Amino acid sequence: MEVVKEISEVRGFINQSEEQAVGFVPTMGYLHQGHLALIEQAREENELVVLSIFVNPTQFGPDEDYEEYPRDLERDLELARNGGVDLVFMPDADKMYKNNAATKVEVTGLTGKLCGASRAGHFSGVCTVVSKLFNIVNPTRAYFGQKDYQQVLVIKRMVEDLNFDLEIVTVPIVREEDGLAISSRNKYLNQAEREAALVLFDSLQRAKELIDNGERNAKAIGEVLSNKIEAEPLAEIDYVSIVDGNNLEKIDQISGRVLIALAVYIGETRLIDNLVVEV
Ligand code: PAJ
Repeated sequence: MEVVKEISEVRGFINQSEEQAVGFVPTMGYLHQGHLALIEQAREENELVVLSIFVNPTQFGPDEDYEEYPRDLERDLELARNGGVDLVFMPDADKMYKNNAATKVEVTGLTGKLCGASRAGHFSGVCTVVSKLFNIVNPTRAYFGQKDYQQVLVIKRMVEDLNFDLEIVTVPIVREEDGLAISSRNKYLNQAEREAALVLFDSLQRAKELIDNGERNAKAIGEVLSNKIEAEPLAEIDYVSIVDGNNLEKIDQISGRVLIALAVYIGETRLIDNLVVEV
């Protein structure tokens, strides 16, 4: 496994790879089973696997956790090596954003909803860094987790609109045994918060139960969900959204591909989770 920091080194590696399929997994590091599932699928579907580790400053708001975001490079490299990664790209922020770069990539519409509504500028930061990474790595396929459902939708739209020549592959959410979606931010939770955090998964399961039993009224399901979360003293809702899974528009009736998406503060930690149902 090669580990490089320079953009030119990535290009050198890719150029001598003789047109083999390149699977690319962009991450912010502090790797966990969710990231490893992406790496594993990339490993199965491509000759080469490139992993990037970059805590991207432009996707964090001024009051968010950029400085505290967990980092453990040594462990990451060990996990990457065991996962069969061929090249790790871990650029320095001042190299990625030279001269205070003046260009931003902005996907409109989709980014005004859900996480975009509560995290101004977040998706612009994501799209800008992901398009830079795509241009640097030039992958055949890039792997994203369904945990960040909106992120996948936004990136797919960007790829289509900007004619990036690659395939976006979505990987299902990886969960802890009790159902909590795995996230680097779970590290922030103390024991009481870790228990309280289960309310995200539990309330999504409850919504699924209602739908399986024939409930089709989105508002009614949303209320059950919200009530269940509000009953947990350590939880505070950022949003509970039941939307069309293709365009994130609000819906009244459950039909077709439906996304139930949550963002909930558990103490100070903002967690997200979601469920897709096809009716
Ligand atoms: P990060 O939060 O490190 O996540 C990297 C990738 O891992 C994302 O595609 C995310 O959806 C996926 N992932 C995280 N937890 C997961 C889980 N429990 N199951 C499945 N996949 C999971 O997302 C980012 O970084 C950044 O926004 C990035 C795309 C790298 C741009 O900076």
